[in-house]
Parts: sequence; structure tokens; C-alpha cells
Amino acid sequence: MEKLTGLKKIKTAVFISGTGSNLKNIIKFSKIKKSPISVDLIVSNTNKAKGLSFADQFNVKKKIFDSKNFKNIEKNILLLLKKEKIKFICLAGFMKILSKHFIKKFDGKIINIHPSLLPKYKGLNTHSRAINNKDKFAGCTVHYVAAKLDSGKIILQKKIKITASDNSASLAKKVLKQEHKLYLAAIMKIFS
Ligand code: GRF
Repeated sequence: MEKLTGLKKIKTAVFISGTGSNLKNIIKFSKIKKSPISVDLIVSNTNKAKGLSFADQFNVKKKIFDSKNFKNIEKNILLLLKKEKIKFICLAGFMKILSKHFIKKFDGKIINIHPSLLPKYKGLNTHSRAINNKDKFAGCTVHYVAAKLDSGKIILQKKIKITASDNSASLAKKVLKQEHKLYLAAIMKIFS
């Protein structure tokens, strides 16, 4: 891969599967002058992703790859990314696991946000696991995507106190708010 430097904003795709609050936040940020990236493409693995509505709202191209056999359609996603000259990928609530082959094609150019203090609580249900274990802190992590799930190099982390009144829903809400800030800070960190 070529180096991601220069005066132009880096063409970025955001991959989603759900609500897309991180997506919305990244798109808004990408439009301000100091943003090193522009969001040029939204990829979803399902047409049920609510976040797809932000494509129309912000005038960003979207593409849905809705198939049970996700491995087979990665080839088509790679072709689209090439066609759109995408150089950087942000995963934001994307629920499919990308193959080694795919990750290698974008080596060091895919980042993800995870709602836990990695390496703690890889995978799903991070908030209920933290509460059940009576953890004092939860948090979120932005990391590079590596072949092993939720295991790539950490870019930034934010710690959040779990209070006695927290349940997994209230914790998820608090963490998500911090995710929005952390994702942008991580993008700035990578490109500064
Ligand atoms: C976030 O909590 C993110 O960390 C996780 O999925 C959620 C996505 O939220 N991977 P949204 O779709 O960005 O609102």
C-alpha cells in the first residue's frame, strides 16, 4: 500500500451493520477542514442497517452486500473499494469478520471501535460481562484490525467508571457517547 499522506483528504469507507451513530459522527467530522479523511463510501452487510439513512442525508455513496456467504462477496467489496479509490476503512458497528486476505489487502489501513477496554471482553455483550464481573471500569478502544478478532494494535482507549446504578443499557449509552469522541481522536492521531 502507498503511504497515506498528502494534501488531499484520504478517501475512506465506513463499514456498518446497525444504527450508525459512529458513522454519522465520522461523516460530520470528515466535512470539517481539519479532518484528514473524507467519507466517500458506506458499506453495509445488511439492508436493515438503520445507519444507511445517513448515506442520503449526507450525500455519501452506499453499497449493501447482503449475503449469507460473506467470504464470497469480500471479492466484490474489494473491487468496489478499488473502483472508488478507497485508501482507509473505518469499521463502526460492523458485525462481520473480515478474512485474512481482505485485511492483508488493506494492511494497517483498517481500524475498528470496540466497546470495551481491550484486551478485556473481546467479542459481544461487553457491557453485561463487565457488570456481571463487578468491574469498576468499562470503556472503549479504537484499534487496528488484525486477522485475530479484536486483537490488533491499540490506537486509543477511554476508561469510564461503572456506577452502582449502571445496567448494561445505561453503560452502553455512556460508552457510546465516549466512542464518538474517541473515534475522531484516533483518526487524528493516526494522520498527525
Ligand atoms: C458500538 O458500540 C461499537 O463499539 C460496536 O457497535 C456499536 C455500534 O454503534 N462495535 P453505532 O452503530 O455506531 O451506533
